Amino acid sequence: MKTYLVTGGAGFIGSNFIHYMFDKYGNDIRIINVDVLTYAGNLENLKDIEKRDNYTFVKADICDKEAISRIFAENDIDYVVHFAAESHVDRSIKTPEVFVQTNVLGTAVMLNSAKAAWEKEDGTFKEGKKFLHVSTDEVYGSLPEGDGYFYETTPYAPHSPYSASKASSDMLVKAYMDTYKFPANITNCSNNYGPYQFPEKLIPLIINNALQGKKLPVYGDGKNVRDWLYVADHAKAIDMVITRGRLFETYNVGGHNEKQNIEIVNIIIETLQEMLDDSDPRKALVTKDLITYVEDRKGHDRRYAIAPDKIRSEIGWEPETMFKDGIKLTIKWYFEHEDWMKNVTSGDYQKYYNEMYTV
Ligand code: NAD
Ligand code: DAU
Repeated sequence: MKTYLVTGGAGFIGSNFIHYMFDKYGNDIRIINVDVLTYAGNLENLKDIEKRDNYTFVKADICDKEAISRIFAENDIDYVVHFAAESHVDRSIKTPEVFVQTNVLGTAVMLNSAKAAWEKEDGTFKEGKKFLHVSTDEVYGSLPEGDGYFYETTPYAPHSPYSASKASSDMLVKAYMDTYKFPANITNCSNNYGPYQFPEKLIPLIINNALQGKKLPVYGDGKNVRDWLYVADHAKAIDMVITRGRLFETYNVGGHNEKQNIEIVNIIIETLQEMLDDSDPRKALVTKDLITYVEDRKGHDRRYAIAPDKIRSEIGWEPETMFKDGIKLTIKWYFEHEDWMKNVTSGDYQKYYNEMYTV
């Protein structure tokens, strides 16, 4: 039975990954989830699995060397799946230091602790161990409109404090692989959407605002392009890279699903109108008049687009969820989890929203 140490498993992608893994492997795996529970971490995301015998939650900071080393000392960890990070670009523009702390120093602690636990006396590593570092396409910088893709060989050119901190963490992982032959893979994925995403990010923010008849803030001219992937497809890619990925390799993950932000907002409005019952009072609130162009994000990357050729040809991964289906699944999930949304948007979220948006 393999033991997975998942960091940041109470966040958006981490919790979807844990659900995916238990759905797929049931009692044949063990998962230890270490998360410090920042504003983005929410144990509600894992309510249905918290009582499983093969699941353990540890509340700890990945920057806390002692706490992380203890987890390795007390458990024979086979795989680390490292999600824990500060993940929101807008927050990184306001408070960059915490991104360096968690994303860079936290990754260093994770790498050192895994290395100490897995390294043998002769400097080689125990058989079958792997560190999967979950990273982003933003490390590659920005593409011109309609031209080119990010490949694994594309030089790093991060622009925001968030992407710079993720690029630094990737470089650390690469340095451990090159220097120590540390058993690792890096995945660089495009924008995810789906259940449990915190409503600071575009898609859940637009769904939540639209359902309340609140303004829908679109940065700049709304023509920045992102390459959207349904989160379960990302979880599947990570699982496949863990089991089939060649050590020391990087794999780009993306859905060839490029859309301008304004297209996304329009699709959400149209899908909400289609899915809401005529008798539902929210239906009248959801209109395109809510779209409001606001000041652009500082240093806003114009376009991201992943070439997922390597993961497809080497590992056989392909995205399964078409955007038109994934967005319906996502909206349905938010319809069915109104309390989840109320809980995460009460308290600190209002303060954040009022500081970020004037509309
Ligand atoms: P998220 O913000 O929803 O979740 C982050 C989780 O990490 C939270 O549970 C939080 O409590 C935890 N965390 C933060 N600091 C921590 C610390 N110091 N110690 C322990 N836990 C800590 O993020 P997400 O969107 O789920 O992203 C997860 C990972 O995937 C990140 O590394 C991100 O860079 C990467 N990624 C995200 C996307 C995307 O579209 N969201 C795309 C590609 C890659
Ligand atoms: O590409 C992968 C990255 O995708 C991940 O590494 C990040 O963790 C994740 O947050 C995401 O980054 P983005 O900045 O692309 O995602 P966000 O949802 O914040 O914004 C998507 C696009 O929508 C971006 O061009 C900015 C724009 N936007 C965003 C918000 C929150 C708006 O126009 N209005 C908004 O209110």
